Amino acid sequence: MATRLGLDVRGFDAPLGAEITGLDLRKPLDRETVAEILAAWYRHQVLVFPDQDLSPQQMVDFTGQFGEPGKPRMPSRTVRDILPNLPPEVMIVSNIRVDGKPMGLPHDGEMWFHSDMCYVEVPHTATLLYAVELPSWGGNTLFADMYAAYDSLPASLRNRLEDCRALHIHDYKRTDRPSLDVDLDKVGNFAHPVFITHPETGRKALYVNRLMTARIEGLDPAESDGLLEELFTASEDRSLVYEHVWKPGDLVMWDNRCITHARTDFPENERRLLRRTTIVGTQAPR
Ligand code: SIN
Repeated sequence: MATRLGLDVRGFDAPLGAEITGLDLRKPLDRETVAEILAAWYRHQVLVFPDQDLSPQQMVDFTGQFGEPGKPRMPSRTVRDILPNLPPEVMIVSNIRVDGKPMGLPHDGEMWFHSDMCYVEVPHTATLLYAVELPSWGGNTLFADMYAAYDSLPASLRNRLEDCRALHIHDYKRTDRPSLDVDLDKVGNFAHPVFITHPETGRKALYVNRLMTARIEGLDPAESDGLLEELFTASEDRSLVYEHVWKPGDLVMWDNRCITHARTDFPENERRLLRRTTIVGTQAPR
């Protein structure tokens, strides 16, 4: 569909997501185009801009047109040693080892559904990933619609959890539940409402995920585990998911307030490298 300014936005044959073509993201956008991209983003939750050719700084500049680019919480000495000119706003998402060392947090293989930075008080609202090197199969990113997950819950469960908060922990794992045995003074953690309202769309979204949500506050552990399992199962239903099969040059931008994402497995002996930026949030989810 062409927008008023002629932007070509094509919704996917999937529960969410759209592709925007005809834009060279290296060039600055005018205010109207930024507004149209944002409107498409609120509507589709995940936007794909294929066939881009972005340097790390151009990616930061593109990101900055939608808000303040975030800086990764754990700037890795290894990455900065290998790529000294990498802007501080760019994180490398890769399984590649240089001299035996990962380029930041190792991004090997499968990763369960999660919401970026849900373990801090004010998570970043958007994440952008740009594909540089890809394996021959797998390493796809799955995006799940948390509005639809909320809508799918039985009324009794919504009422039961309406005022509850859930604790999220950054206990860097890829396919395991966070441990409640960690020293919470030493790891990122924060309790947010189980259901949040998106500040721009006014829609309610489920805000828990299997990788990082450790417990529902105030409930006994067995009840918390049981309810969380119900929520995780609802939130990962395939009918809510768009699976992005990457091509080099794809830039994908998603909304962490209404989307969780995961990664499918890929061969460990093949290289995968993407660059990531984020947009800083301005308020805690509520
Ligand atoms: C991430 O979840 O941070 C990375 C997603 C991906 O590698 O596809």
